Amino acid sequence: GGGGHEESHITDYSFSFEGPFGSYDQMQLQRGLQVFTEICSACHGLRYVAYRSLGQSGGPDLPDDQVRAYAAFYEVFDESLLDGEGDYRPATPTDHFPESSLSNAPDLSLMAKARAGFHGPYGLGINQFVRGMGGPEYIVSLLNGYTGEQREEAGAVLYENTAFPSGWIAMAPPLYGDDVSFEDGSPTGQVDIAQDVAAFLMWTAEPHLAARKSAGFVGFLMLAVLAALLYLTNKRIWAPYK
Ligand code: HEM
Repeated sequence: GGGGHEESHITDYSFSFEGPFGSYDQMQLQRGLQVFTEICSACHGLRYVAYRSLGQSGGPDLPDDQVRAYAAFYEVFDESLLDGEGDYRPATPTDHFPESSLSNAPDLSLMAKARAGFHGPYGLGINQFVRGMGGPEYIVSLLNGYTGEQREEAGAVLYENTAFPSGWIAMAPPLYGDDVSFEDGSPTGQVDIAQDVAAFLMWTAEPHLAARKSAGFVGFLMLAVLAALLYLTNKRIWAPYK
């Protein structure tokens, strides 16, 4: 032990939002929100995400009353209260999730895009193109990559993890399986809930994925039509000289 790993091991899990027509699975995003809330939020923040966006269609699509109830569960410090002295009040849908409460735990809002993960054959990025970003695969692999080995370095405990680039991470294993229970009876195995929370974190990082994909497809169609027209025009222009 002691040394870093040559390369990290990322498994290519599949997600509903992969491929040119992929979209988020609303129920999976809701389950992922639950995993984040009950487990990850103890240390990690989501500072770029407004509660309001939990009601977004194409996202978790929670009904308005549930968004309001979810937000009210948190408190925010409001400087305008008590004549400028400031005070805590329940959060409303326009407020954002809190920042990380543990100083060395990174904010997870954009993590799924910050980490590339699964590049596929020879690191060409082909799989990123065909199968998606790879960040969610990295997150699932990370949450399931603990070997059970740990060591101490400068008073901090490090846990061996086969997905983490240096091989040793300061995050204790957060999931063991059956850490949450889902109302809809969905499976709660370690890999299942890791996939749910990874899908949720992909959504926080890229909430308009479906809109971008369909805009991209329209752009592709327009280029295809334009190419066909140019080909025909070109033939017509040169026809007399052939
Ligand atoms: C790092 C996810 C729960 C503490 C990370 C990273 C991710 C992550 C993606 C970044 C790894 C990287 O830099 O590539 C999650 C998820 C959780 C969870 C999805 C819930 C299922 C927790 C909990 C704690 C924690 C409960 C605290 C008890 C940390 C710390 C780091 C970290 C300290 C920094 C590790 C390092 O850089 O060595 N986490 N985490 N995490 N997490 Fe978590």
